Amino acid sequence: MEITEEKINEIRRSVNIVDIISEYIPLEQKGRNYFAVCPFHDDHNPSMSISPEKQIYTCFVCGAHGNVFNFLMDYENISFIEALKLIANKVGIYLDIGNRFGKRITKNENMYEIYDIANKYYQNNLHTKDGIEALKYLKNRGFTDDIIKTFGVGVSGRNQLTKILKAKKYSDDILLKSGISSGSNELYDTFTNRIMFPLCDLDGKVVGFSGRIYNTEDSSKYVNSKESEIFKKGNLLYNYHRAKEECRKKKFVIIVEGFMDVIALYMVGIYNVVASMGTAITKEQAKLLKRLSTNVILCFDGDGAGNKATLACAKELQDVGITPKVVRLPDNLDPDEFIKKYGVEEFNNYLTNYKSLLDYKLEELKKNTNFSNSEDVSKYLKSAIQELYQITDPIVKEIAIKKLSDDTGISASTINGMLKNNNKVINIEKKQIVKLNKYEKSERELIFYMIRYPEVIRIYENNKCYLPTQKFRYLANEIVHYYDKHNNLLVADFLSYLSDKEELLEAFNIIDVMNLSENYTHEQIMDYINELNEYSINEQIKKLMNEFKKETDSIKKIEIAKEIQELKVRV
Ligand code: CTP
Ligand code: MN
Repeated sequence: MEITEEKINEIRRSVNIVDIISEYIPLEQKGRNYFAVCPFHDDHNPSMSISPEKQIYTCFVCGAHGNVFNFLMDYENISFIEALKLIANKVGIYLDIGNRFGKRITKNENMYEIYDIANKYYQNNLHTKDGIEALKYLKNRGFTDDIIKTFGVGVSGRNQLTKILKAKKYSDDILLKSGISSGSNELYDTFTNRIMFPLCDLDGKVVGFSGRIYNTEDSSKYVNSKESEIFKKGNLLYNYHRAKEECRKKKFVIIVEGFMDVIALYMVGIYNVVASMGTAITKEQAKLLKRLSTNVILCFDGDGAGNKATLACAKELQDVGITPKVVRLPDNLDPDEFIKKYGVEEFNNYLTNYKSLLDYKLEELKKNTNFSNSEDVSKYLKSAIQELYQITDPIVKEIAIKKLSDDTGISASTINGMLKNNNKVINIEKKQIVKLNKYEKSERELIFYMIRYPEVIRIYENNKCYLPTQKFRYLANEIVHYYDKHNNLLVADFLSYLSDKEELLEAFNIIDVMNLSENYTHEQIMDYINELNEYSINEQIKKLMNEFKKETDSIKKIEIAKEIQELKVRV
């Protein structure tokens, strides 16, 4: 049975968004609305408002916006269907999700099966004759039976797996696609003689493997199975599904580079940890980290590469609204080596004595500065100021300025002056980036009122005009379509309708949180429409002008000129 829109709306209406959100974060009532510290960015003041009237939430800082399902999807890191199911279960509405879900699962079912068989095979090998050496290696590194089981560690055997899978009638095609087998005519096992670590998706299903050498010299220490439709390394974090609960409990998440580091932390009882599995992190991984907690500690390897990765990772996180904390380990050690050498207590000391990102960055800049060279000092100050301008806390700012002044011998007031100048430049740049032309403004404002007033939808329909930006044009079409079908446009329901159209949902959120007067005049709407018509005519003229230039036939040229003339009269 396909879940109908009516059913979805019924489920949404059966709860109050205020009650649901208050199960997750503390709310405070102010007037008609409720306020909370936003869980979707590194928030310090209550920036999120929840409207019981509209049944939506909005964060005025990071732009998070949506109905009760969107909140659960982002907070619990679940799909739309799962959020729907969660609410339905809560209020006792029966939901038959057989087909809509079924399709997605069967799509890559073969691949999941193959990984499952491989996983069992590798794990079993570890306890056979073929696994003796690998097991010895693991035990040497402190792996207990429990840890081996928890992380599903195994060993690839001697080219048996492909045969087993072929006997189970899996095609060469899918075996190659899964990365478990390689070759052209005669397939063979991709992994032999390596310790195997299963890599899981966000739900904990195995979607790939990483194999480590243990008794041979090989130029590549780790080999990963190749990327596929269900395995994209940049879209997952190692240990995500196991760490989820613990991060929520501990209210922070540690990110390390290697999965051996994750396992080393597990061995000493630290469970709120995930690994990036490489050096830099992707935007997608930054978003995943943010879902675990907005309180992130970066604990990368203590070497130069780890330093670079720390800066790169901090940048990705800042782009999604998180300012991470930084732990730098000494002597080029990674977390695994550090704990082996100094013990868990010392590691915990490093965790509690983390550096703020600002202090860390300033220290890094300082390290690369020769203070007896005035050009170097000037460069140092300029870079430091670039970092400082982003800081909003006046105390943090003042302390940093004092430090800078002590380091460089330049007076605090001079540094303050530089900071002010820099702010001006940055503000101008910022304004230029978001400056919309009048047509873009008109289309956004028009949609803002369409969302609020059915009459405006009608006016738009009756005066068909062409919106310049594709996503807003599509959104306007969806609004018309939805209104025609339902004869209303309840924002909270419309958001459910948009749930699988990510770009339109984003476009909607940009517009719905705009700070415009709630009231409109007919004249104002007609102004938007006229502006947009002017835009579309100008575009047509531009196109014709081009044609005119290219045209060689003089009779046709006259025709085009006439057309242009006619259009010009209309603007
Ligand atoms: N990595 C990889 N391919 C490599 C090297 C590393 O994919 N050739 C990834 C792995 O996911 C690894 C992470 O990068 O977990 C960190 O690499 P590294 O620091 O070299 O590994 P360690 O975690 O220190 O592993 P070990 O202690 O076993 O040397
Ligand atoms: Mn290591």
